[in-house]
Amino acid sequence: MSSVVDRWDIHPGHPWLRGLRPELPVQFDENMGLWGVYGYQEAFDILNDPRTFSSRTAHLAPITYDESLNDGDLTQMDPPDHTRYRKLLSHAFTPKAIAGLEPRIREITAELLDGIAGRDRFDLVTDLAYPLPVVVISELLGVPSSDRDLFKKWAFRIIDDLNGMAYLTGGEDEQKEVDEATAGIQPLLDYLLEHVLERRKRPREDMLSQLASAEVDGVRLTDNEIVNIANILLVTGHITTTMLLGNTMVCLDAYPDQGARVRADRSLVPTAIEEALRTLTPSAAMSRRTTRDVEIGGVAIPADKMVLVWLGAANRDPRQFAEPDAFDAGRDPNPHLGFGRGIHFCIGAPLARLEGRIALNALLDRYPGLAVDPADPPVFFPSPDMIGVRGLPLRVG
Ligand code: HEM
Repeated sequence: MSSVVDRWDIHPGHPWLRGLRPELPVQFDENMGLWGVYGYQEAFDILNDPRTFSSRTAHLAPITYDESLNDGDLTQMDPPDHTRYRKLLSHAFTPKAIAGLEPRIREITAELLDGIAGRDRFDLVTDLAYPLPVVVISELLGVPSSDRDLFKKWAFRIIDDLNGMAYLTGGEDEQKEVDEATAGIQPLLDYLLEHVLERRKRPREDMLSQLASAEVDGVRLTDNEIVNIANILLVTGHITTTMLLGNTMVCLDAYPDQGARVRADRSLVPTAIEEALRTLTPSAAMSRRTTRDVEIGGVAIPADKMVLVWLGAANRDPRQFAEPDAFDAGRDPNPHLGFGRGIHFCIGAPLARLEGRIALNALLDRYPGLAVDPADPPVFFPSPDMIGVRGLPLRVG
């Protein structure tokens, strides 16, 4: 039986998705002009050593862009700034805070599925996997979830404009891509700014209001910082969760024995979701900058160079995972790097996992014969640093 990757020809340029690995766990990538990291242990060590592998990579980018877009962006910070800014958000994402959202997530899921009741086919992304996380995060932030079609238009446009690797490879076309993506994001930033200014005047019980009054070392956050934080939570927070749910469905469909196993034993839903994150890793690559000369995986890398950690490759490293290319819905333990590791470990992981579990269980409850239609195949985001569906038509069996 062909794998899910071959079946839908997912990212032909990623050999590790097809059982072929670069010779060494760390190698200089001539095309990209940076060091690629493919080994699990090497990726793990890099993500856990922010002093040597900094997240501040902007000045190494071979293209220019408006660096004020990085203000407040945790993913671009190192300690001590990172520690202080992350603290502002962490209380909203503790397991306890997220568990409190469960009834509302169930309710939204049920409403969305009620909306398509009686149909003999639907698109999982359009009808559930996109709106669910976006409504949840909008409500948490305090922006109207009724504007979700606008967010989708803006978010998908940014992704379409920007091959995620453009800022790493450089070149005239890539600079144009980045300029277009920056222009494309502006309406979303303007929209968020309007809401931030409103909360400054009239605070409510929402995260935007908390950010509007929050202080770092006695200084209030700037409007721009709050807008960027909200943008990251809103856009990266929902696109990745959309991909997670879609990817899990695609895997259960492509491996019918595993699909049947999960249907028969729902206690496997959480492990099936983790296995989808491992085998089809939505955020597939993370960039870091060396702060000193360093040797990793037997390879010497000079200071101030870019490394690209391929989480999607590390998650299929045979030195770490037995039968790495097999989809095992019950794989446990499964220490995949799909949510990163170390100080930048995904703050939204408990939320994404909870949404994934509720949505998948609801789908399995309502649709005993849900299947991908080979005549109307899933569509994947083309950007190589993202592995995930952007459209998933399903047939109700
Ligand atoms: C399946 C869904 C998700 C995946 C695969 C994912 C993946 C990741 C990864 C790999 C990182 C590490 C970045 C790095 O090391 O540079 C990260 C960080 C982050 N994620 Fe997620 N994420 C998901 C869902 C979410 C959600 C739902 C939210 C918020 C609502 C969120 C917000 C963040 C934030 C703010 C960071 C930065 C943390 C830091 O730098 O300290 N993510 N995510």
